[in-house]
Amino acid sequence: MTKESQIGIASLYQKFEHYFDMGAAVNTRTIVTQADLIERHYNSVTAENEMKFAEIHPDLDRYTFGAADAIVDFATNQGKRVRGHTLVWHNQTPDWVFEGANGLPATRDQLLIRMQQHIETVVKRYRGQIYAWDVVNEAIEDTTDITLRKSKWLDIIGEDYIAKAFHFAHQADPNALLFYNDYNETNPVKRDKIAALVSSLQDQGVPIHGIGMQGHWNLQGPSIEEIRTAIELYASLGVQLQITELDLSVFEFTDRRTDLTEPTSEMLELQAQRYEQIFELFREYRNSITAVTFWGAADDYTWLDDFPVKGRKNWPFLFDGHHAPKKAFHRIMK
Ligand code: GLA
Repeated sequence: MTKESQIGIASLYQKFEHYFDMGAAVNTRTIVTQADLIERHYNSVTAENEMKFAEIHPDLDRYTFGAADAIVDFATNQGKRVRGHTLVWHNQTPDWVFEGANGLPATRDQLLIRMQQHIETVVKRYRGQIYAWDVVNEAIEDTTDITLRKSKWLDIIGEDYIAKAFHFAHQADPNALLFYNDYNETNPVKRDKIAALVSSLQDQGVPIHGIGMQGHWNLQGPSIEEIRTAIELYASLGVQLQITELDLSVFEFTDRRTDLTEPTSEMLELQAQRYEQIFELFREYRNSITAVTFWGAADDYTWLDDFPVKGRKNWPFLFDGHHAPKKAFHRIMK
């Protein structure tokens, strides 16, 4: 769609202005190919990959800020807010981070120094431009009675790696809002572990201001009641909530069908109903929810095109592949 035709459509973020921000994950390509759509409908952006450890700090003495800078410049020029994603994660982190001398693993002290230097360099660079950071991403184990996911951060530093990361981020930018971010966040077992983690951080006086609920959901689940229960529990901790990576896959996670070249009309109708119910719920909790960020902006590009089935197209957003509003958009704008 042209810029002119976008202007004929009511703006998503303006519609929700009195509730919460409406954000989109972007990359260096989509800030070009989706620029008009983003300008019109979203008032916040997040870098999909460009601020992750492996992208921004590939070697001990080398930072590569080009792509992240381009995204922050794009946002600043368009007057959008920026959420930072992400400082400490078990994925997309280079091996050197965890390596010590003579083929041994890094020591606890060595890894803490690296963590601190990384966080300080990245967070200070964008002070005043990035208002919130996902400090630690996905540290909780999904199932079983294990609480913290096995990772090199945990192995080498120990359980306090999470608290340390928050302290370092707070030192680097005392004004930034600091989030713990995770997926499967409405699953009762994982939900309770996330809440227990955040509550124990609070007890220790760790500067944590919010919980990021990723929101990688689909047409079947989680149910509105499950989402509500998670929101209630997290909000009861007195932190703010953000939905950080929302998308509604048209396929259930275990559904591996590959026959579709476009979504069926039943899928689009169900997706519209789900989005309507979900946003109704979010509006109810507007006192706790401060932003809703989609993990993309429109159906022409989504990470779900390759996950979990390589090469299979998905259609998870409010705007179609041509950036035109879908049924779901009209439903939540009512
Ligand atoms: C997780 C991460 C995101 C992204 C998605 C898949 O949710 O937090 O950064 O990698 O997986 O795109």
